[in-house]
Amino acid sequence: MIDVKSMFIPENGQIRSVFFAGKGGVGKTTISCVTAVKLAEEGYRTFLLSTDPASHLGEVFEQEIGSTPTEIEGVENLWAARIDQEKAVVEYKERILGDARGKYTEDVLAMMEEQLDSPCTEEMAAFDKFIEYASSSDYEIIVFDTAPTGHTLRLLELPVDWSKQLEFQAGGTVIADELNKQAQNRFRQVIERMRDPEKTTFAFVVYPEHTPIIEAWRAGEELKEIGVSTKLVVANFVLPEERCTTDFFKKRYEMQQEHLKELGKKFKAPVLTMPLLDGEIVGLYNLKKAARILFDEE
Ligand SMILES: Nc1ncnc2c1ncn2[C@@H]1O[C@H](COP(=O)(O)OP(=O)(O)OP(=O)(O)O)[C@@H](O)[C@H]1O
Ligand SMILES: [Mg+2]
Repeated sequence: MIDVKSMFIPENGQIRSVFFAGKGGVGKTTISCVTAVKLAEEGYRTFLLSTDPASHLGEVFEQEIGSTPTEIEGVENLWAARIDQEKAVVEYKERILGDARGKYTEDVLAMMEEQLDSPCTEEMAAFDKFIEYASSSDYEIIVFDTAPTGHTLRLLELPVDWSKQLEFQAGGTVIADELNKQAQNRFRQVIERMRDPEKTTFAFVVYPEHTPIIEAWRAGEELKEIGVSTKLVVANFVLPEERCTTDFFKKRYEMQQEHLKELGKKFKAPVLTMPLLDGEIVGLYNLKKAARILFDEE
């Protein structure tokens, strides 16, 4: 049986963020939900947060899940929410402008508001939410269900080259400088947290085929460059050997097993396997069952 605690909770018991990333459709949302259920069942106050605007957490748990933490019915210690990007942007702007009110004249404030109408504001708002939740003492562990790889990396790549991508326009003005300073500060906080193995577990979900593995591996290499290491790989949709009785399935089984070997070599991280189940993993009954399977209790 796998010791879930040692995989996700550092010895000092610090709050821990767990990220599940990977190519589209590999099972990020499912594995995030299953893991969150498991951690909550183990008694940790767990918060499941989706950063994917297209996420369907509500359908998986068969209950409404909005942008504020909702208690999951039927599991103690579990809350879930999805980041509402638009709302996050409004809140972020409000906070920045609120801080500036009283400090600057109306003219300057108007300019600032204009500057905040920038794509950087969206990124900043997402970071803000991340920091807000990740440093909240309401939960012991936060599981992040992320959007497909490209999106996750866009968020994480920024600090590598942040000045190019995130400079608020009209650099040189007092306002741009002020906004940039705040942005830089925020990045530093996010990146420091992501790099700290006591605070963050970064996991990739793949299925045992070439493309998802290569994509995850590349993303992992990029993350390495900014000091974030991959701590866990989940191989999903693995065909159970006993079901592969025809030539067709035997062949697919062999193919998957080859890729699983490759996976073990490529990533210097433990690999958990999740078999392909005979139905979708929706509803608490199925999530709990999947948790027992993923964490080796069945
Ligand atoms: N091991 C499994 N056995 C059976 N069905 C599974 C398994 N894992 C995931 N599924 C199903 O596969 C579908 C896709 O999974 P999921 O939504 O978790 O992928 P995702 O990586 O989050 O997708 P996206 O990139 O679109 O966010 C879902 O319908 C889910 O129930
Ligand atoms: Mg998803």
